[in-house]
Amino acid sequence: MLKIINVVGARPNFMKIAPVMEEMRRRADRLQPLLVHTGQHYDEAMSDSFFEDLQIPRPDVNLEIGSASHAEQTARIMIAFEQVIKEHEPDWVVVVGDVNSTMAATLVASKMSVKVAHIEAGLRSFDRTMPEEINRLVTDALADLLLTPSPDGNENLLREGVSPEKIRFVGNVMIDTLYAQMERASASLVLEQYQLQKKNYCAMTLHRPSNVDDKKTLAGILDALHSVQERLPIVFPIHPRTRARLEEFGLNSVIEKQKNLILTEPLGYLDFLQLYSNSRLVLTDSGGIQEETTALGIPCLTLRQNTERPITVTEGTNRLVGNDPAVIKREALNALDNPPTAGRVPDLWDGQAAKRIVDAIEEASR
Ligand code: UD1
Repeated sequence: MLKIINVVGARPNFMKIAPVMEEMRRRADRLQPLLVHTGQHYDEAMSDSFFEDLQIPRPDVNLEIGSASHAEQTARIMIAFEQVIKEHEPDWVVVVGDVNSTMAATLVASKMSVKVAHIEAGLRSFDRTMPEEINRLVTDALADLLLTPSPDGNENLLREGVSPEKIRFVGNVMIDTLYAQMERASASLVLEQYQLQKKNYCAMTLHRPSNVDDKKTLAGILDALHSVQERLPIVFPIHPRTRARLEEFGLNSVIEKQKNLILTEPLGYLDFLQLYSNSRLVLTDSGGIQEETTALGIPCLTLRQNTERPITVTEGTNRLVGNDPAVIKREALNALDNPPTAGRVPDLWDGQAAKRIVDAIEEASR
């Protein structure tokens, strides 16, 4: 019997672990999966609602770490997670994505000689000012099994000297969840709630420190939205970090002036899926949403200079527009006037990644 601790911490982790936990539970004759939530995200809207929407089993352990500086948050997770490993003595720790919880759990497990599998390995923005890039580099340097979503991930890892036998191209597990939940999401009433007509509004998210932690940058992005929302409504579920900065910088009045810019609380998985999948255009700085829009062929403008998910640009519907207000405005209006043709769904974004992931973990245990 293989004992496996699956670790989640923040919102973008939940949709990646859901199909993996399900697949492991299907193999209960040989696998004993546990779920540990670090508590990096703790709000109902940022955490609990995802467990409900995605029918993820309740975590076996919640470390209740909460918010803090990067060093403190990482350190607290490490201290608490060390005890979990001592108590459960797992054969594997499985981590997903690139958040602080991913890196913290990896550091602890490797030092205790527990094997680590990293789901979504090999992605690189080559921008070390992003906290997530540091988390990716550290996690991939230590992990024993690197499960990549796209071939660029393999190339990056090989270039960094990771030995090929540790690397497996398994595809994008987030797309397993996306396909599995499409039908349930269609029952969401979010469009009625905000009086939206299909394909006649934009969806937007924004939470990267590089976009929201500087007043001038954030104000510029909001300005750029002005002429877009004159054309059609923009629905903007707002991340707690962004909400806090708007208050701090006194920018709420800029939003109130834009009648068609609709701010909402962070949405649950199913409501947000229903929202973006029926939108005309998505504006975002999220990593995962670049992939989800590519899988569904929805035009996406990414408000960043770089992406760790280049396949969404080369094959999918994503375009990088940075955070210069004039460029955002020009590109958004252009995308509305001349909708880009649908891209191609990348290889192995087929809804079967969790199966390949769990196969790879079992194989690597033999
Ligand atoms: C984290 C991840 C980021 C991911 C994002 C998705 C890291 C380094 N960053 O960023 O990669 O894209 O999650 O949301 O791990 N807060 C709440 N309630 C919560 C969680 C956070 O109010 O449930 C507030 C706190 O004030 C906190 C701030 O949001 O200070 C930021 O949270 P934190 O987890 O530090 O980073 P995120 O910006 O959410």
